Amino acid sequence: MRTQVVIIGAGPAGLALGRLLEQAGVDAMILERKSAQYVLGRIRAGVLEWGSVELLDRAGAGARMHAEGLVHHGTALSFDGDRMHIDFTDLVGKQVMVYGQTEVTRDLMDIRQGTTIYEAEDVQLHDFDGQPWVSYTKDGTTHRIDCDFIAGCDGYHGVSRASLPASAVSTFERVYPFGWLGVLVDKPPVDPELIYAHHARGFALCSQRSPTRSRYYVQVAADEKVEAWSDTRFWDELRRRLDPQTAERIETGPSIEKSIAPLRSFVAEPLRFGRLFLAGDAAHIVPPTGAKGLNLALGDVALLGDALMEALQEGSDAGIDSYSVRALQRIWKAERFSWWMTSLLHVFPETGDFGRRIQRAEFDYLMGSRAARQSLAENYVGLP
Ligand code: FAD
Ligand code: PHB
Repeated sequence: MRTQVVIIGAGPAGLALGRLLEQAGVDAMILERKSAQYVLGRIRAGVLEWGSVELLDRAGAGARMHAEGLVHHGTALSFDGDRMHIDFTDLVGKQVMVYGQTEVTRDLMDIRQGTTIYEAEDVQLHDFDGQPWVSYTKDGTTHRIDCDFIAGCDGYHGVSRASLPASAVSTFERVYPFGWLGVLVDKPPVDPELIYAHHARGFALCSQRSPTRSRYYVQVAADEKVEAWSDTRFWDELRRRLDPQTAERIETGPSIEKSIAPLRSFVAEPLRFGRLFLAGDAAHIVPPTGAKGLNLALGDVALLGDALMEALQEGSDAGIDSYSVRALQRIWKAERFSWWMTSLLHVFPETGDFGRRIQRAEFDYLMGSRAARQSLAENYVGLP
């Protein structure tokens, strides 16, 4: 078998790249380790920057998002119950779209015309410094695909980055000593906007998926077990961390999903190794506090898609040569913002009284300074 680009991974990065390439007439095959149903069952990100909205429009995958997604003009931050509003429209003239990663993935799957091999086992990358090819096993038979380029869109635990010699990659990492316990519930959101809350007991987030479905999170210890959290315990803990008016208004119900996500900042450099490119979570992880993970993944593939098209159709290597440098500039800015939001809003074991006073001063500075709020808003809605 032969194709122009083999994409490893059918998460949002792989599916969006596949779609951008097929629109331009580039032949691309996607290999995914899991089933389509499994991929759609993962509950992850919820907020799209406007650049991501535009990318999905460009991919022809935006119709349902515009019909069902919720445009948010701002967000709320709270510190020990004191609330502040960050008005994106007023501060930076932009908005975000609340539309779940599950729905983005479904829309990209539905529109795809090219081949996606689900449940492809033992994917291996070969000769990406010369004439690349990829092998995989499906139903007990091993297959070989020759190609011009390989795009590693297979997430943090994927095979693409793992195939590189350690000496070729520099990694930068910070593992946070806590995770987020998330609950999905079929009840209307407590507030029209998201609420990011700092409390002495830890961070909490009130998010949403639709007018009838809410997503809530609380910071928990890194070694916490989801089995230790009954729905009742979760709702009690969430309420404690919010201002009393919000806590009173929360509509609780049986959770339809409950899971713990660890928090990590991670970047691998560079993003190009001969004819192999890394994009999305395969190359970088951010803690979810800034809602940047999915958006960064889509930003990477927008750049990579154009670069591959230039190389394959116009014979120009300018785009693929500069992909890594251009993508990393954006990635590090999102890493910084996600780290900053995480530092402001969470309780760290070492925070202590001094640390909490500093966090409080940062919050008060945001409340009192339009310039500070503008900086937050500019980063949250997405840098150009
Ligand atoms: P993924 O979505 O990870 O997709 C990679 C795909 O590659 C997967 O389908 C995987 O099955 C496949 N794959 C892996 N290994 C192989 C292999 N060997 N062969 C073939 N296929 C393979 N971001 C936010 O902004 N907000 C959030 O609340 C949030 N919550 C998260 C919770 C969790 C548990 C995780 C893991 C991430 C979360 N993120 C969140 C981050 C966001 O979901 C990711 O940034 C986004 O999914 C990145 O997309 P991707 O396509 O690069 O990677
Ligand atoms: C979510 O809805 O899952 C969500 C929203 C905003 C974040 C993180 C997660 O910053």
